Amino acid sequence: MKIPALQAVTVEILVDNFFDVFEPSRPGIVERVIPGRLKKPLLAAHGLAYLITLNHQGKLSRILMDAANSPLPLFNNLEALEHDINEIDAVALSHGHPDHYGGLFEFLAKRTGGPIPVYLHKDVFLPKVLITPRGRIGPWVLDLNQLVAAGVELHENQGPQLVLDQALLTGTVETTTDYEKPLPGFRRQVAGQEERDLFPDEQALVAVVEGRGLVVIGGCSHPGIVNMVKYAQKLTGVQKVSLIIGGFHLTPHGDETTQRTIQGLKELDPELIIAGHCTGFKALTKLAAAFPDNFMVSCVGTKVMVVGG
Ligand SMILES: [Fe+2]
Ligand SMILES: [Fe+2]
Repeated sequence: MKIPALQAVTVEILVDNFFDVFEPSRPGIVERVIPGRLKKPLLAAHGLAYLITLNHQGKLSRILMDAANSPLPLFNNLEALEHDINEIDAVALSHGHPDHYGGLFEFLAKRTGGPIPVYLHKDVFLPKVLITPRGRIGPWVLDLNQLVAAGVELHENQGPQLVLDQALLTGTVETTTDYEKPLPGFRRQVAGQEERDLFPDEQALVAVVEGRGLVVIGGCSHPGIVNMVKYAQKLTGVQKVSLIIGGFHLTPHGDETTQRTIQGLKELDPELIIAGHCTGFKALTKLAAAFPDNFMVSCVGTKVMVVGG
């Protein structure tokens, strides 16, 4: 599938689980905020929201990928980072878990202007349930009717679809590794029947940057971050990977899966890996040890730039 080679992609981490004042900046690649210079404190939360800016021949388009777990961190951090929500051109949802859409309706309600395009997989609307060691949670439902009533321009997909004609949502991820499998505690309800959720609704947002290769942005990566990057390579025909960023959902899968995922990431040979959100602390420490020069923890307020050339 052909997508245009962009001049630059910037991913700004609006909401994530972490803030670490000692994670370094990398000039021209990773810009970190200085907390004391912000107009208000940033909030970290168990949720995810990225502001992605695509530069296509000098024209900038902004995509909100995921809308955090609640309006509180989303709006607090948009304000702290001095963003105007009306400058956002589109919304994309990584998958149908509420820590990724909890601030969506408030975001839509606060915007002014015409309908905003919202890109998502059609299965995000199925009720989701989680069985945890501490009991059952859910069902969570993202209500299609409420979304339609909010006046959005809805783009539902199953297979790959273009976002603003510049980036690609992968659609249901083709799984090719034998070690990446969603945990059985994730369930979904289809026509009143509950079944294991294999996350057909989870998709990566993919962009290609001139001379740099792929930028692959994941949400929770329940289908497996290596599967997601490999599928992005297959869809675009571009092998070189410049940036992999997302929650990798690894710690609860155990050490062996984490090690095999690290091996898979090494084979993909990305220039930079940034993991946060649901990756889990233990897996983050293993990633940090495995990639001493090109791994960072995803901290709120961080801006990651992939510039072509
Ligand atoms: Fe998540
Ligand atoms: Fe999730």
